[in-house]
Amino acid sequence: MTVKEKFETMDYGPAPESDTEAQAWLESFERKFGHFIDGAFTAPGPAFDSRNPATGALLAEVTQARQEDVYAAVKAARRAQGKWAALGGPGRARHLYALARLLQKHARLFSVLETLDTGKPIREARDIDIPLVQRHFYYHAGMAQLMEDSLPDVEPLGVCGQIIPWNFPLLMLAWKVAPALAMGNTVVLKPAEYTPLTALLFAEITRQAGLPKGVVNIVTGDGTVGEMVVKADVDKIAFTGSTAVGRRIREVTAGSGKALTLELGGKSPYIVFDDADLDSAVEGLVDAIWFNQGQVCCAGSRLLVQESVAEDFHARLRRRMDRLRIGDPLDKCIDVGAVVDPVQLARITEMVEGNTAGERHVAGISVPTSGCFYPPTLISGLGPADSLMQEEIFGPVLVSCTFRTPDEAVALANNTRYGLAATLWSENINLALDIAPKLAAGVVWINATNLFDAAAPFGGVRESGFGREGGWEGLTAYTRPKDTRKQLKQRAAPQRNEVATTVIDRTAKLYIGGKQARPDNGHSLPVRDPAGRLLGHVGQGSRKDVRNAVEAARGASAWARTTGHLRAQILYYMAENLSARAMEFAARIDAMTGGRKGAQEVEFCLDRLFTAAAWADKVDGRTAGVPIRGVALAMKEPVGVIGAICPDEAPLLGLMSLMAPAIAMGNRVVLAASEAHPLAATDFYQVIDTSDVPAGVVNILTGRHADLAPTLAAHLDVDAVWSFSSTDLSAEIERASAGNLKRTWVNDGFATDWASLKMRCILNHATEDRTIWIPYGA
Ligand code: NAI
Repeated sequence: MTVKEKFETMDYGPAPESDTEAQAWLESFERKFGHFIDGAFTAPGPAFDSRNPATGALLAEVTQARQEDVYAAVKAARRAQGKWAALGGPGRARHLYALARLLQKHARLFSVLETLDTGKPIREARDIDIPLVQRHFYYHAGMAQLMEDSLPDVEPLGVCGQIIPWNFPLLMLAWKVAPALAMGNTVVLKPAEYTPLTALLFAEITRQAGLPKGVVNIVTGDGTVGEMVVKADVDKIAFTGSTAVGRRIREVTAGSGKALTLELGGKSPYIVFDDADLDSAVEGLVDAIWFNQGQVCCAGSRLLVQESVAEDFHARLRRRMDRLRIGDPLDKCIDVGAVVDPVQLARITEMVEGNTAGERHVAGISVPTSGCFYPPTLISGLGPADSLMQEEIFGPVLVSCTFRTPDEAVALANNTRYGLAATLWSENINLALDIAPKLAAGVVWINATNLFDAAAPFGGVRESGFGREGGWEGLTAYTRPKDTRKQLKQRAAPQRNEVATTVIDRTAKLYIGGKQARPDNGHSLPVRDPAGRLLGHVGQGSRKDVRNAVEAARGASAWARTTGHLRAQILYYMAENLSARAMEFAARIDAMTGGRKGAQEVEFCLDRLFTAAAWADKVDGRTAGVPIRGVALAMKEPVGVIGAICPDEAPLLGLMSLMAPAIAMGNRVVLAASEAHPLAATDFYQVIDTSDVPAGVVNILTGRHADLAPTLAAHLDVDAVWSFSSTDLSAEIERASAGNLKRTWVNDGFATDWASLKMRCILNHATEDRTIWIPYGA
């Protein structure tokens, strides 16, 4: 045998990691766990099994929470929260730092326990999951330290309910717990039923770290317990898991006033251009789809490869697949471990067996015959509409198709309801940086894949959810502007004399696509002053008008690509034109509201326009310093089409406060004017007309909010809905938004102080974060 042959045939000997310490830890609890509430473990109750998916061996029995357990956990968290927040940022930083240190100290125990419970290769748990967990706690210890200085205008939300999946149990815990605690919140966390063990070990670590009791509470159980947490008296729900459950949580929390972030599924494209370094791209694929057996929300599960290199690339890929090693997850030489549970194995098998399209290549390697093992699989030659190209498999199964041109690559990549991540490979920097912003994805990796860091925001668009985890951006998910809210006076139901009339004469129209348009139904509504005197009529917008306005806004997509400089010029021009007619607008506001603050309101409007113009070319995003040879660009991009229901409290200032920052950031808006006092908005059409605003960028509807809001909230071409209506529409809007999981920002029945609302807060709602990882550095 030659040396060359030896190298080719020689197998690695097994190098198993010892599980003695982890088993001893389980034994110390007699393999029976209760919940962790108020700083102590409860007595074990009716339980479910947690098993090692590689062997089927029972690891522990874990208690299924009852309603009273969830109540107790929330109560403990509520009791602890005030003191925890009052500890101050530096005080909390010490605790987070202590947790980070202990996570480091017990790294091996955590890694092995994670591998036993999930089936993931020890190499990954040891080198990726657990180091990232530590990094997250260190990073957020820093954020706690800096909070008072750097984020003086925000406060904690209160008690956070956190529900996490089974693919990265401890890492998802860290992503949720570290920022929540850093910002002064307390938490009730529910780990996934398949993988609760590292969360319970973490609970013990919090005791060692001397964390005050009640700050971290952990309740275990299945989805029904998750639902109890969602419905409990918490201030926020943070969820990572399937899109179906995320959608359900959106519906259940609608109108509750609970803050919500959802990190959901994906079908992320992995694009290989013909000038890519093909071997690196193949190696990247090993990380993209075989990392954690493909059970990764942002897995590069959809390979799109340029036709000219497709055959070569697939051949290299198949060769590489045939050299992957699958087996005992505790073996340090293993590439692919076990799938998390027999249920998940059956789901993957069913999806793959149900597919008849394309060509299947199963890695030519020996796969253990017992345990939850699924071989690395490639299904090539699929069409974009084939169900495996669209549905998340969440297993070690890659699907692929080819493209000819960069434009086609973008079209195929974006042909999905998801928008979590995307990877692209090209040696041509111009091509890579041209394509990256065109991909519908919250995270883009260039010439690399599956890179994560606490400093780099992570999260999706479309049906992959909303909200970010990591970086400064992630902190907004655990804070709110300091609370000065007052209950909003509900608008009385329309009175009899407000019924629709068909008299259109001298009636203000709607403003759609740069033109004044009659409402589709031909009806109008009277506008009266507080004494009941008729001031005029406005069109009664309806569903059809909303659709027309959204279509116009969609059509104006070029606005998103204009420069901040140009958008600033237009906003300044608008301010100039409004200023010229300030007295007229002030008189109109006074007439409608019966007050005398019209002049002041117009002044505030001018300030809003100027401030939005000032920001138009200054919301630059940032460069996150990540500990690899690269940088993560945390970009701020427009959200898209925003539907906004304007308030009655400040009829012109409210509209201006929503419109100006939205369009400054490159969004297009469909505004529903104040229902009670709409005439300042309809007068504003002329200001828009004379200010060079391209048609479709600003559309204004009048009519009853209750008629307009549901269509806006359910419209699939609307990316976000904001509501500050005096009619209580928050629940209806949030429920309807679940369709395409659009972002919402609603008043929950509270009045907003429009004069003092911080522009930064509005700009946050008007922008979407996109993280682009690029190679950089020597
Ligand atoms: P899942 O979404 O049901 O589970 C995630 C977490 O949500 C678990 O802790 C679960 O107990 C909890 N949960 C379930 N129903 C709930 C409810 N009604 N209210 C509140 N919490 C609830 O995910 P599952 O069933 O384990 O996996 C199904 C599919 O979901 C996978 O095949 C995969 O496609 C996808 N998935 C995606 C993940 C991601 O990170 N994007 C993670 C896990 C699963």
